[in-house]
Amino acid sequence: MSANTNYAYTSLANIASGPHARWRRILLIALIPMLCAFVYIALEPSAIPSYKGSQYPYQHNVSIPDGDTSMAAVIKALYEPILHPVAAANFTDDEGQVYRLHGEPRFKQKLGKKVLVLDIDSRPLNKPGQLMDDELVWKGGEGIRALSAGMLSHYTYAMIHGYDYKFVRAPDYEDRWGTWVKVPVMKEALKTHDYILFMDSDVMLHFPHLPLEWLLNYWNLTKETLIMMSLDPDEPQNYDSRGNRYLNTGFVIAQQSERTQEMFKVWAECPDEGRYQGCAKWKLEMFHEQAAFGNYVRYDFDRPEDVKVLPCVEANGAPEAENRGGCKGTFVRHYWVNKGLVSKALSDQVMQYFVPRLHQLYHKSGGDHVVNAKGNYRLQGAEMIELTNEEKQALKNDEGKNQKDEGW
Ligand SMILES: *[C@@H]1O[C@H](CO)[C@@H](O)[C@H](O)[C@H]1NC(C)=O
Ligand SMILES: *[C@@H]1O[C@H](CO)[C@@H](O)[C@H](O)[C@H]1NC(C)=O
Ligand SMILES: *[C@@H]1O[C@H](CO)[C@@H](O)[C@H](O)[C@H]1NC(C)=O
Repeated sequence: MSANTNYAYTSLANIASGPHARWRRILLIALIPMLCAFVYIALEPSAIPSYKGSQYPYQHNVSIPDGDTSMAAVIKALYEPILHPVAAANFTDDEGQVYRLHGEPRFKQKLGKKVLVLDIDSRPLNKPGQLMDDELVWKGGEGIRALSAGMLSHYTYAMIHGYDYKFVRAPDYEDRWGTWVKVPVMKEALKTHDYILFMDSDVMLHFPHLPLEWLLNYWNLTKETLIMMSLDPDEPQNYDSRGNRYLNTGFVIAQQSERTQEMFKVWAECPDEGRYQGCAKWKLEMFHEQAAFGNYVRYDFDRPEDVKVLPCVEANGAPEAENRGGCKGTFVRHYWVNKGLVSKALSDQVMQYFVPRLHQLYHKSGGDHVVNAKGNYRLQGAEMIELTNEEKQALKNDEGKNQKDEGW
């Protein structure tokens, strides 16, 4: 079998064309004139920009009980007005790219507590900057270790959408690499929840206001689907013994069923070699449980809907890794390229929503705090002197003489 063509899974068909591969960061370029325009508008307190047609329209009012200043209320207030509808026909990302469902959505209602957002680790994580330490400080992103930032992001995502969240401190396997513990713990979680969303600590959803249900519709999780994972980048180390690319176990969506239990069971038992000769080597060798799934398990669970293969561009990597086979993490960011980016991503998760809201508030209450002295007064020595009508007109004709926009 050749590496790139005869891949076993039908679901790979929708990946080959890679329709989202070629578009650029227009946003930055567009942002600067936009900001300038807004700053200009800010001098006219009456002109409140309309957010109609904006990517994040604030359509809904959130009612929060008076005096409720709990963190849960704060998170609700920040995200609820902008939640993307679970069954929306499309989604526009922060660069203006539109993603459309390919058919009738399966999920039209929120799944709530049927979904478990799951963190799994067997390490104590109680050193400074780690999640289980008593204190955690931000310090420009330096006070918090990358993996703690990731887990806080998962926790937030669950809170935003009303999913269940659990951090499972897993027991260790005596003779296997630490990451193997994910497999039995996910299996266990699929006994209590219909859907699990597992993410490594360096993985994050890039749009916290986009519900998992929408992604399940978009990626087409059918009733028969057991598991969804993303392809790894097209690089030599990411191929299995049959020449097929590994699926990355850092981001896993799985759906409860008997067959799913069976799949996780044979996966977890793979290195015992009752069923798969040669699997024991993946106990300690890279890529561990990922290689066991790639080399063995997926070839046993090969009904068309069993394993959904997600495109690397959408569900793996990060913009900083785009040169690694285009894996820029449109929906799912996986910061294997640089774990140092995780805490920045956590702050983006807040700031990409907070800043537009803050800006909107600035305008809404503009009448109270924007003093339009320009055009009505002139400066002379230490004095601000009101202009006559003739002076006002003259000033208009002379606008912008002693200033320039330096892009700040
Ligand atoms: C939101 O609340 C404001 C006043 O607080 C009101 O003017 C506006 O109509 C409300 N919008 C919706 C969509 O309910
Ligand atoms: C997205 O879907 C809505 C209807 O659900 C439609 O009104 C809108 O035009 C669509 N946007 C794009 C960019 O296709
Ligand atoms: C999902 O996949 C099934 C089976 O391949 C197909 O029949 C259905 O039309 C797809 N739905 C969407 C929304 O893409």
